[in-house]
Amino acid sequence: MKRIYTGKTKDVYELEDGNYLLKFKDDMTGENGVFDPGANTVGLVMEGAGRAGLRLTKYFFERLHERNIPTHYIDADIEQATMTVAPADVFGHGLEVICRYRAAGSFLRRYGLYAKEGQPLDAFVEVTIKDDERQDPPISKAALEMLGILTAEEYDTLERLTKEISQVVKDELAKKGIELYDIKLEFGRLKSNGEVVLIDEISGGNMRAYKDGVYVEPLELERLILGD
Ligand SMILES: Nc1ncnc2c1ncn2[C@@H]1O[C@H](COP(=O)(O)OP(=O)(O)OP(=O)(O)O)[C@@H](O)[C@H]1O
Ligand SMILES: [Mg+2]
Repeated sequence: MKRIYTGKTKDVYELEDGNYLLKFKDDMTGENGVFDPGANTVGLVMEGAGRAGLRLTKYFFERLHERNIPTHYIDADIEQATMTVAPADVFGHGLEVICRYRAAGSFLRRYGLYAKEGQPLDAFVEVTIKDDERQDPPISKAALEMLGILTAEEYDTLERLTKEISQVVKDELAKKGIELYDIKLEFGRLKSNGEVVLIDEISGGNMRAYKDGVYVEPLELERLILGD
């Protein structure tokens, strides 16, 4: 087993059979001990965060599988905090696709002149470039196409899948009286056949969730959704 990437919250290994193994770490993004799903630095370490993130990821990927939404998921080992996935190539150096139901985070920082905190947004999808040095800038469909990062058709697929997937997560949270404000997803082209699929993870670390108007921390979210 060969390590091919050391990420902020996960390490990536290549298995003998060509599949990838994602090892979920206890590192969380944020600053000075405060969690922030949009941050580009590891800000805190919490015992059990990796396993909790994987449990939620496994849960959501299984719900997506039931709905025939394509993902990289193969299986998961909660004890080891590892997930086996089909290898994919990311678009360019990697994109993040955000779906927003209420204004928060970078949306407010950018559009604060016009947007109010918590203002409802209609499953608004935006794409950002994974580029820590440039603070993950947002990019338009036209620019993505012009720069050869993806085709117009692939963009439409990303947008459609993002809305479908986010709605599944939103509905799952709603069953527990939790409201999804925003969620961040990653996509890639499967190395086997080029199909555009959801990759990476869906955990508390990728979303903002609120219960009775109070923000729900990632570990608490896992407990509320899956129980102890
Ligand atoms: N099926 C897959 N094929 C190829 N790469 C994948 C797959 N699933 C996830 N990845 C990549 O594995 C890496 C996981 O590491 P990690 O989540 O720590 O990300 P990061 O890029 O360092 O940080 P961040 O997500 O916070 O920007 C990411 O670069 C992600 O794009
Ligand atoms: Mg990541």
